[in-house]
Amino acid sequence: MRYKIAVISGDGIGPEVMAEALRVLDRVGEQFGHEFDYTTALAGGAAIDACGNSLPQETIDLCKRSDAVLLGAIGGWKWDNLPGEQRPERALLGLRKELALFANLRPAILFEELADACPLRPELTAGGLDVLIVRELTGGIYFGERGYKDTPLGRAAYDVEQYAEEEVRRIAHVAFSMAGKRSGRVTSVDKANVLESSRLWREIVTEVAAGYPEVALNHMYVDNTAMQLVCAPQQFDVILTGNMFGDILSDEASMITGSIGVLPSASLSTGNFGLYEPVHGSAPDIAGQNKANPMAMILSAAMMLRYTFGLAKEADAVETAVKRVLQKGCRTPDLCRGESTERKIGTAEAGQLIAGEI
Ligand code: IPM
Ligand code: MG
Repeated sequence: MRYKIAVISGDGIGPEVMAEALRVLDRVGEQFGHEFDYTTALAGGAAIDACGNSLPQETIDLCKRSDAVLLGAIGGWKWDNLPGEQRPERALLGLRKELALFANLRPAILFEELADACPLRPELTAGGLDVLIVRELTGGIYFGERGYKDTPLGRAAYDVEQYAEEEVRRIAHVAFSMAGKRSGRVTSVDKANVLESSRLWREIVTEVAAGYPEVALNHMYVDNTAMQLVCAPQQFDVILTGNMFGDILSDEASMITGSIGVLPSASLSTGNFGLYEPVHGSAPDIAGQNKANPMAMILSAAMMLRYTFGLAKEADAVETAVKRVLQKGCRTPDLCRGESTERKIGTAEAGQLIAGEI
């Protein structure tokens, strides 16, 4: 089979980790007889520098013509002082909206091999950790009305948190159907003790749950969830939440798996179309130094194989290859703990070793 992939390497460590993901995909292509056609496009800071616009129309069009999108990372110090609407991050939000990528899947899995990289006491994660965060990605406060107004206390800025029933319903369906294929538990996270939008969220999620009798639902306030994630993380299977709470909780969940450098994500629309990107950012402090961990990008490519292309065997092969490399003690700097069993490797070597295991 032949697959058309739009490749947006982006900024900072994006291009380095992307190169390794493409190396691994090429290997999958050779071994399993597929052809991956890559077309590169600009977004974020790289696009601002090239054409003054963080999300050129050409990039949107290319993504729409492709079967899937791979994205490295966006943003960096260089563009930090631009006004809000011109910041590179707008490109990410624009892509999510234009491509209707409403469902963001962020699996936080603690690999056995990285158990000692987890900052929690070992008994809290004994036997492993496998949480899937399902984050709503095209609504809520990220996309609500925003602006400034004058008040007696001076200028006020506001961003509106708003969720429509249908937005909640469609993301809830994603979470429940995912939970049905896992441990069958959904924790819906909100702030219903304070926010009206959360009360509607809770009502709709409860309605949707009725259609999934095999899945157990509980509701949890976001502040409590933040606490539970670090004191009893194994209670979670699927965490269903809105855009901003999902942003925050997914960073927290990523750290308890050892390193944000190993966490992939998928952003899906209806049908099988998706954009795949690591959860980590552009890490400008280590860009261009062969220090970045390409595993999150490589595992994002594996998610693309699984969810958009339906290539489960191939996705398994990539995930197993990553684990084998970790089993051998190979560690990029983010994973190094200074133990004698570690073999320190760089970005390119990590990609080569992983490809070599496929
Ligand atoms: C993420 C990032 C983005 C977000 C930023 C870069 C706009 O933090 O994907 O988690 O807040 O969604
Ligand atoms: Mg984030």
